[in-house]
Amino acid sequence: MIYGLTNSKGGVGKTTIAVHLAAWLSKKKRKVTFIDADPQSSASQWIRELGLPIQLEQIDSPETIIHRLAKLASDADDIVIDGPAGLSATTRAIMLRADKVFFPCGPSILDLRAASKAVTLLREAQKTRKGKPSGSLIPNKLQKRGRLSREMMDAAKKLGVPMLAGLSLRQSFADAAGQAKVVSQMGAPALLASLEMNQLLKEMTRG
Ligand SMILES: Nc1ncnc2c1ncn2[C@@H]1O[C@H](COP(=O)(O)OP(=O)(O)O)[C@@H](O)[C@H]1O
Ligand SMILES: [Mg+2]
Repeated sequence: MIYGLTNSKGGVGKTTIAVHLAAWLSKKKRKVTFIDADPQSSASQWIRELGLPIQLEQIDSPETIIHRLAKLASDADDIVIDGPAGLSATTRAIMLRADKVFFPCGPSILDLRAASKAVTLLREAQKTRKGKPSGSLIPNKLQKRGRLSREMMDAAKKLGVPMLAGLSLRQSFADAAGQAKVVSQMGAPALLASLEMNQLLKEMTRG
């Protein structure tokens, strides 16, 4: 399965969720390749420091994503791609190769409007690929989990993209990269974060 994390905005949780997804799959004994497709490459150090058997590839050229992905996919059970911010050629390339793309997005209507631009790219890719990839929104940094404003729910419905339960704003998520860990390795203080993340990852990998 090829998972892509993309959005038009930065700072919405693409890297945080991509790294947690890769670590979770790896701990389930899946053979995982992580593609850091963001020129800022903030995920790469984090993935290396986790010390898990995850193969890391840094690829931010759209041509390389298009051409190398089939080979990389045949050598792995799962591929996780951490995309750059913006609707670049790289983001398009991810949509042309992924099976599932996820759009983490902040908890405001403005964040959702930004995400709607990524959904436009998703529709273009789906047209040329007979409905693939699937796309879902992941509301992130929620003040209270599950508490999305009515306006946000309505706007998401109009976009026609499912919205997953998402993650609340929690210090443990923000601290994870600095500790070179995922939240499930951070002990009691990160218990709620860990439960929330597990539930999200189950949703992302279902079906
Ligand atoms: N649910 C959350 N609660 C608190 N901080 C978060 C949460 N999700 C992400 N962050 C923090 O927000 C910042 C941006 O997240 P990041 O995953 O790097 O986003 P992106 O890859 O989309 O730019 C990072 O400092 C990260 O630790
Ligand atoms: Mg990032």
